[in-house]
Amino acid sequence: MSDGADLDFFIKPIAGALGAEIDGIDLTQVEAPQAKQIREAFNQYHVLVFRGQTLSPLQQKKFAQQFGPLETHPYITGLDEAPEVVPIIKEPDEKMNFGGGWHSDMSFLSKPPLGSLLYAIEVPEYGGDTLFSNQHAAYMALSDTMKSILDDLQGFHSAASQYGRGGDSEKRNYGSMQLEVSDQAHQLVEHPVVRTHPESKLRSLYVNRPFTESIKGMQQSESDALLKFLYRHCEQERFTCRVKWEAGTLTMWDNRIVQHYALNDYQGQRRHMNRVTVGGDSPH
Ligand code: SIN
Repeated sequence: MSDGADLDFFIKPIAGALGAEIDGIDLTQVEAPQAKQIREAFNQYHVLVFRGQTLSPLQQKKFAQQFGPLETHPYITGLDEAPEVVPIIKEPDEKMNFGGGWHSDMSFLSKPPLGSLLYAIEVPEYGGDTLFSNQHAAYMALSDTMKSILDDLQGFHSAASQYGRGGDSEKRNYGSMQLEVSDQAHQLVEHPVVRTHPESKLRSLYVNRPFTESIKGMQQSESDALLKFLYRHCEQERFTCRVKWEAGTLTMWDNRIVQHYALNDYQGQRRHMNRVTVGGDSPH
């Protein structure tokens, strides 16, 4: 990444571990050269925040497509006019929020998303922030001995706890969002516990609470203990940043290297976001 002198926009980091605000861009006007610069900033900061945007679902899609082909969510119904755009809504009378807990988007897919772009349409008067955690920094903070153990491990992931029979979508009321419950969600996929970012080559932890079921080749009690340690490790404050939303904020995050957590601290108020996800490749 350059020192910023030849960039079309301003970059202001928002925390020590990851995240930056990008100023001076209208996301409806981004062409390939500027998208390339944004991508470089994305690889450096992992979470980018753009304020004061006005984006229709089609404009959000068009901007996101600069980073790769978009995906439709396998278990959530998107907008009629743009199925790749998933509304994430919590009404004032709903108690549960979507994405409330540390996770990596759709790690249950054999090719999980490269990243997500979340656009705020209506935000509560207070609360409803999103936390992000840098999984490369979390990996680097481990001892060399622990790193070398993890480097050889594979994890099993599935969507069962969220979208399977008896999962969250069945048990809890997400009200206004249309979440499917499916047998398909119980299918296991295998991913390395430590993955290498395809562009930056940074190594990062790749396990998360809702979707990683176990570590391959371990007894369940061993796997549970190791995963518990890793979750507590990678969720530490020193690896995180926090995004406070305003209507018109778009935040994009690199799902290959961060986890995120939508805070549910705004009961009785409405929050409405639109999310699109860019397709990714097989973690290795
Ligand atoms: C998500 O997990 O994608 C939702 C994040 C949010 O609503 O802040």
